Amino acid sequence: MKEDANSVASLMLWTNPYIPKVRSRPDRILNEESARFSEERREEFFALKKRYSEVEIEVGSGSGQHLLTRAEEDPTTLYVGFELRFKRTFRTIEKAEERSLSNVFLIRGDARRAGDLFSRGEVRACYMHFPDPWSKNRWRKNRMLMQRTFVEQIVKLLQPGGTFSFRTDHLLYFREALKVLRSTEGLTVSSLTEDLYGIRCSESKDSPPPEKTPPTPSSEFEALFCSQRLPIASCLCRRLSTKDFSA
Ligand SMILES: C[S@@+](CC[C@H](N)C(=O)[O-])C[C@H]1O[C@@H](n2cnc3c(N)ncnc32)[C@H](O)[C@@H]1O
Repeated sequence: MKEDANSVASLMLWTNPYIPKVRSRPDRILNEESARFSEERREEFFALKKRYSEVEIEVGSGSGQHLLTRAEEDPTTLYVGFELRFKRTFRTIEKAEERSLSNVFLIRGDARRAGDLFSRGEVRACYMHFPDPWSKNRWRKNRMLMQRTFVEQIVKLLQPGGTFSFRTDHLLYFREALKVLRSTEGLTVSSLTEDLYGIRCSESKDSPPPEKTPPTPSSEFEALFCSQRLPIASCLCRRLSTKDFSA
């Protein structure tokens, strides 16, 4: 009994050590506090954006692998990751510094607040790779791409011709999301596949692994699903120009 009480007490005393670490880096991380961003920090972020010709965003950047690779390939563009978790956010910035990438910035907070930080037509590309699937039926409503207001917000932020890339290993989520994406005004699906790396083809339990191995997976979760030989569904959407729809 006493032991139980002690473990409850120590649990209550535990605070995430990455919270102060994130707060100590306002130069590279904008931290959502009490469901809002400080006005001063927001202004600093706006000033930073002005130093870059283009901006791309990632929703749920996780350990940052995809964001960092893109930032390395294109140093004149600012890469902004939205991530809820403090540790993943902080580690991404540590890795950016190890790789001397100054064009990476993190928002530690809910990507559904992207509209507070970017203006209409400002974003060249938005990536949403392997969002939490909320696999139980009663959790489906939490899937971000099921929330039409979120999708419409992303469309508004994209430049005409800008792209939205969605990948998942969860086929049901993919098919449901496609319905929403296809019926969103201002967006068109330019390419899609339910098996990006051809993992499923000629596959049976007894067959040898396919000869064609996937190219280097672009993120931690993509690598995980590829290693489990799970097909990856992917779609790329393009934002129509305003004259093509009533914005
Ligand atoms: C399954 S992980 C995928 C991470 C990464 N994209 C990858 O492919 O490795 C999903 C990530 O999205 C983050 N996330 C979930 N909901 C979010 C939200 N509303 N805003 C920002 N990040 C979110 C989670 O914390 C988690 O790190």
